[in-house]
Amino acid sequence: MSYRTVVSIVVILLVPFSACHSGANLNSISDNLIKNQLKLLAANFKDAKSAGGAASADFVTVRSLKGDGTLNLIPTKDWCSGFFAGSLWLGSILTGDKELQQLAVAFTTPLEKEKFNGKTHDMGFKMFCSYGQGFRVTKDSIYRDILLQSAKTLTKRFNEKVGALRSWDHNAEKWQFPVIIDNMMNLELLFWASKQTGDQQFYNIAVKHAETTLANHFRADNSSYHVVDYDTITGKPIQKNTHQGFSDSSAWSRGQAWGLYGFTMCYRETGIISFLYQAEKIADFVLNHPNLPTDKIPYWDFDAPALPQRPRDVSAATVTASALFELAQFLPSKSDFYIHSAEAILTSLKKDYASAPGQNKGFLLGHSTGSFPHHSEVDVPINYADYYYLEALVRQNKFNHLKK
Ligand code: GLY
Repeated sequence: MSYRTVVSIVVILLVPFSACHSGANLNSISDNLIKNQLKLLAANFKDAKSAGGAASADFVTVRSLKGDGTLNLIPTKDWCSGFFAGSLWLGSILTGDKELQQLAVAFTTPLEKEKFNGKTHDMGFKMFCSYGQGFRVTKDSIYRDILLQSAKTLTKRFNEKVGALRSWDHNAEKWQFPVIIDNMMNLELLFWASKQTGDQQFYNIAVKHAETTLANHFRADNSSYHVVDYDTITGKPIQKNTHQGFSDSSAWSRGQAWGLYGFTMCYRETGIISFLYQAEKIADFVLNHPNLPTDKIPYWDFDAPALPQRPRDVSAATVTASALFELAQFLPSKSDFYIHSAEAILTSLKKDYASAPGQNKGFLLGHSTGSFPHHSEVDVPINYADYYYLEALVRQNKFNHLKK
């Protein structure tokens, strides 16, 4: 009997007796379900990697569940390589489970080499969600050094003329200097590095990138474009497109969530009021949108056509929930609305989108959509949905604690 099978049986046997949530948040899944699913996914990764033999040598973690029910394993360079490690750290914070912390270390350590990878803007996703959460828990100076090198590497993608960090290097025939709304998420690593070292350059680059994004990514209705392409001679935008959304002019759901989270975080780190106003406007756009379903889990794009069906994107919902718990602290007049909305998302996730014990190979949530136009990861469990879900639960606990 394989290790995975043993863990599956243990999960199925244990969970019915432990399904009563030990924490105060009735709209979250139970601590035991979190622990058991995360451990199951770690075990399933191990089994799948060893079954893959030499062909799996570079795989260090798990990204999503394929349509055929097998795991999508990925190497360190994948933009999603830090999320499962981060989920294990967050799971250990939520539950206090020491075994989760050991697993978190094991899934974080192989990512170190990414600290020198300057070919991508996804440094924050990969390193701050893994090593950053690890540093938060352990204060390990080795983690600190790895994060500082990662931040240094990321700054190499900053272009003074454009005033932004370059996002992608691919599609060079289409875009001269593409900047995507997602890139707001990578700025947190730079703010952290500035605070750790006192080096203002990290801070200045992050602020400039956010200001450039604020100036060029948003439409009159406060939705955002996915990709803005810049002319590196003039520094001006030359085209505004989508890559993962329905159309250039549509509101791709996860993009709106990245913007909401990113500008809320930038306000937290800088106190610059225009960042807070932008976060507020994005929240208003998303939460009041006529196409937002009543359960508050968005379709993959707010403007996606209805036929034959519009898959949801649970990852957009989890990023939004996590952002709203933070935004609520900065806007007291709307705090109740944001908390109520974030909790409504959590309630829906628990009721209709969470895995049953032992289901989905250990992922916590189903029904995310990676890239609908590329027919990639449509309506499946994806690791970043779980990561921001757990972060939302941590933030909810913090918010409830502050209220006491
Ligand atoms: N950052 C890529 C995505 O959100 O799919």
